[in-house]
Amino acid sequence: MCGIVGYVGSKDACPFLISGLQRLEYRGYDSAGISTLRPTGGLGVTKVAGRVADLDSALQRQALTGALGIGHTRWATHGAATEDNAHPHIGGQGILSLAHNGVIENYESLKFALQAKGYAFRSQTDSEVVAHLIADCFKNAAADQHGDGSVQSGIEAVQEALSQLRGTYGLVVMFRDYPDLLIAARCGSPLVVGVGKDEQFVASDTSPLVGFTERIIYLADHQLAVIRSNNIQVLHRDQGRIRPDIQTLSSQTVDANLEGYGHYMLKEIYEQPESIQNALRGRLDKDNATAKFGGLNLTTQQLRGIQRIILTGCGTSWHSALVGEYLIEELARIPVEVEYASELRYRNPPVDHDTIVFGITQSGETADTLAALREVKRKGHHTLALCNVIGSSIAQEADGGVYLHAGPEIGVASTKAFTSQLTVLSMLALYFGRLRHLSFEAGQRIISQLESLPSLVEKTLECHGQVKEIAERYADATNFLYLGRNYNFPTALEGALKLKEISYIHAEGYPAAEMKHGPIALVDERTPSVFIVPQGTVYDKVLSNLQEVKARGGPVIAIVDHDDRQVTNLADAVIQIPQIEDFLQPIVAAIPLQLLSYEIALLRGCDVDKPRNLAKSVTVE
Ligand code: M6R
Repeated sequence: MCGIVGYVGSKDACPFLISGLQRLEYRGYDSAGISTLRPTGGLGVTKVAGRVADLDSALQRQALTGALGIGHTRWATHGAATEDNAHPHIGGQGILSLAHNGVIENYESLKFALQAKGYAFRSQTDSEVVAHLIADCFKNAAADQHGDGSVQSGIEAVQEALSQLRGTYGLVVMFRDYPDLLIAARCGSPLVVGVGKDEQFVASDTSPLVGFTERIIYLADHQLAVIRSNNIQVLHRDQGRIRPDIQTLSSQTVDANLEGYGHYMLKEIYEQPESIQNALRGRLDKDNATAKFGGLNLTTQQLRGIQRIILTGCGTSWHSALVGEYLIEELARIPVEVEYASELRYRNPPVDHDTIVFGITQSGETADTLAALREVKRKGHHTLALCNVIGSSIAQEADGGVYLHAGPEIGVASTKAFTSQLTVLSMLALYFGRLRHLSFEAGQRIISQLESLPSLVEKTLECHGQVKEIAERYADATNFLYLGRNYNFPTALEGALKLKEISYIHAEGYPAAEMKHGPIALVDERTPSVFIVPQGTVYDKVLSNLQEVKARGGPVIAIVDHDDRQVTNLADAVIQIPQIEDFLQPIVAAIPLQLLSYEIALLRGCDVDKPRNLAKSVTVE
């Protein structure tokens, strides 16, 4: 998590730093700061415990100028969200400024040693340790062969300090004595260098670079970039100087415009007809009643030989994986296992030779998912990414994959990425199915259902007014249950997560029948249960579960897919969505659940797009 930006050139650094931090704020937003080398000399630092907007106001009151600068927006790991703990951190007696993303595991022993040498710490962070450690190494480097003041001392100081770190970092450093030098280094936390003309940029991802340059260098782990206004060198820890691979920034730009919507989350909910259409585009092969994918990087023979699939991810992406399990097992008859990436990473399950592993991730930067994929890849398995952000770490490291093409998702609560993930997983299930037993006719039927999705989702959005009224009735509840079965069990989990994360109401998702094994004890007249009860194979069963809740006085909000008299007679509120086959119901049913959480969060005065304690991209373990 956390966002880093850096600038070296001849212009004032601040405008790029502030706009970059605004675009990176989705990575963390509890405190922010920037540091520049003042034109008169010496390092200036402005930090706030708060949002980038607060930092901007502080800079309006007292400007920080300079053509060399770094900035940071933080998601706290070590130490509370205070001004002292905000980055950049000063190393030594004002020798350097540093912004760091990641976690330094051995920071306590390093801190102890540095304190013994007289370094005074102002923060509780692990990052300040890195700043002082580089300062200490710089003192040593400058004292020996490079005492002539060449930037080599700075480079060596950073290299020496990095060799002592255990953990993860993406960091950028600037020195008081080097007005034309930024050093950026990566191990586990992404960094991109933007190549300009007589100016260069650094950022945690490409979003800050849009509009500033189209030429970029993704740093890989153990690489360090020595960045001067007219020159960039990339050094690898083991290989020495390497030729940087300059790529062109994809046309996927950050659309920072709310286009009249009150929040990005709402905008992204309303974008779903289009984002689903984009996920489908060019991937349906009607002639062969199947789907097609360009980037799986497996031969047809290898695809037919797959004996098992592991789907892994975190949060909403893990919920998508659960739907994927139902889809692939039903349509393709391939055994699927779903693993939390954070568990897969350390669990070491036996994985057979003919198993492929899909990492599902919107951002492509989630540390747990990245680590899990690396671990299975190390063991020789083919890894695939189902990912939204083009060029992200996971997209680059996987052996192949499928992009969602959902466009930038800025709201912390994932909405359109979820429905796009489900759309792609449905197509993958169709594709794997057609390589095996699935008939041509079944393939055709699935394609026609998939094609109807964008317009059905468009229609579903019409329930917004009704959902708003329901939200007003239940916004004061302190507990919610979300219940569904079969394909809609993961939908229930996703509905509960949406409510929890943006409205701070406790909510649990359960398979509707599982409720009677414990959670039913929570049912009372103050605890609404949201039942997802469209027509389908488990309709009667869910209806029985709904009756069990009503019999205990629990209010019921039901999601149905026709003018359902039975449910309407029982439920306290009913939301109608369009009819679609079971396997695509989660895509349509997710819409009212997203809207319900949005409306409730608004009524409770919550910050919908930036809920407390969260970040869009979770790049720490
Ligand atoms: O970018 P990813 O899909 O890998 O992110 C995984 C989770 O952090 C993410 O889905 C999170 O649960 C969302 N805030 C849920 O809305």
